[in-house]
Amino acid sequence: MSPFGGWGMLAAFLAMLCCRGSNEKVFEGPEHLMVGFGEFQVINCTASCTDPKKLVLETHLNKTLLDSQAQWKLFQVYNISKDEELLCSFTCAGKQEMKVFNITVFYPPKQVLLTLSHTSVAVGTLFTIECRVPAVAPLEGLTVTLLRGTEILHNQTFEETAPFPHDAVVTHHTTAHREDGHHNFSCEAQMDLRSRGGGLVHRVSDPQRLEVKEPEPNYQMVIMAIVIVLLLLFVTFVFLCFVFSEKWRRGRTGHYPVQAAWNRLRRSHRAQPL
Ligand SMILES: *[C@@H]1O[C@H](CO)[C@@H](O)[C@H](O)[C@H]1NC(C)=O
Ligand SMILES: *[C@@H]1O[C@H](CO)[C@@H](O)[C@H](O)[C@H]1NC(C)=O
Ligand SMILES: *[C@@H]1O[C@H](CO)[C@@H](O)[C@H](O)[C@H]1NC(C)=O
Ligand SMILES: *[C@@H]1O[C@H](CO)[C@@H](O)[C@H](O)[C@H]1NC(C)=O
Ligand SMILES: *[C@@H]1O[C@H](CO)[C@@H](O)[C@H](O)[C@H]1NC(C)=O
Ligand SMILES: *[C@@H]1O[C@H](CO)[C@@H](O)[C@H](O)[C@H]1NC(C)=O
Repeated sequence: MSPFGGWGMLAAFLAMLCCRGSNEKVFEGPEHLMVGFGEFQVINCTASCTDPKKLVLETHLNKTLLDSQAQWKLFQVYNISKDEELLCSFTCAGKQEMKVFNITVFYPPKQVLLTLSHTSVAVGTLFTIECRVPAVAPLEGLTVTLLRGTEILHNQTFEETAPFPHDAVVTHHTTAHREDGHHNFSCEAQMDLRSRGGGLVHRVSDPQRLEVKEPEPNYQMVIMAIVIVLLLLFVTFVFLCFVFSEKWRRGRTGHYPVQAAWNRLRRSHRAQPL
């Protein structure tokens, strides 16, 4: 036996230990995929060995084989309308193995509907912006942003995790500014499922325009103010007339008429004592 024989065997053993993993991926967890409702998913079924037997994708859904090679088969699975577990199974060295594809259906935002409570408002008037994103799930991944031009007016995220579709509705009350008339309002829905094996879906509403008018004067208030001013003018006029007429009379007699009569009476008494 050569002195290197033992080393050679050890090296071969170590090589076997270290490189087992490169071909075998037996303890892999399920692969998580997210698919839009009714859409398809491409699945690459790859065996852990280079010469697998019976490489199949087990599913009740319709599928087609797109491509294949010795170690893998590429399937397209159609019309996925609910959460599914697809099994990719194969036999390696007489042992059956499988890989799980855990598919979660989501409902991406297909429409973003923006509604302004008014088409035309006066500066300072309250109005409401409503954005509706119909039939989305999971709401958890959704952010709805209301915009004026490129400026963010309001941002909303959701807690709801229910897998069935819901309408997401965001309302924002605000008062009209002059600048509101110079920009378009819009609403953006963004569904971010990247942390859950999905993608990023982004949709924007049609732009909406708001006509902003200068505030209208309140005619009732204006009429009332005019009436009050006229009344005040009238009262002042009457008062001044009275004062001036008294002054004019005093200017002629030097006294008020009643007092003048009284003085005349007193003077006549003194002239003729009883
Ligand atoms: C399928 O996966 C295997 C292993 O990752 C890869 O070698 C092969 O190119 C893939 N096939 C396609 C069509 O992507
Ligand atoms: C599979 O496709 C065929 C026709 O292409 C259709 O008739 C059948 O209903 C489909 N099956 C499922 C489970 O979607
Ligand atoms: C897709 O699935 C739905 C419900 O499972 C079914 O009604 C419909 O016929 C299917 N469509 C196709 C093209 O297979
Ligand atoms: C598949 O995913 C769903 C939801 O994401 C989860 O509830 C379920 O436990 C997963 N199944 C497996 C086998 O991981
Ligand atoms: C609104 O959300 C977007 C994206 O999710 C984020 O980039 C932005 O900082 C948020 N803005 C506000 C005011 O919260
Ligand atoms: C607002 O949107 C309309 C289209 O609906 C577009 O023609 C117009 O240029 C936009 N105005 C501004 C200020 O972005």
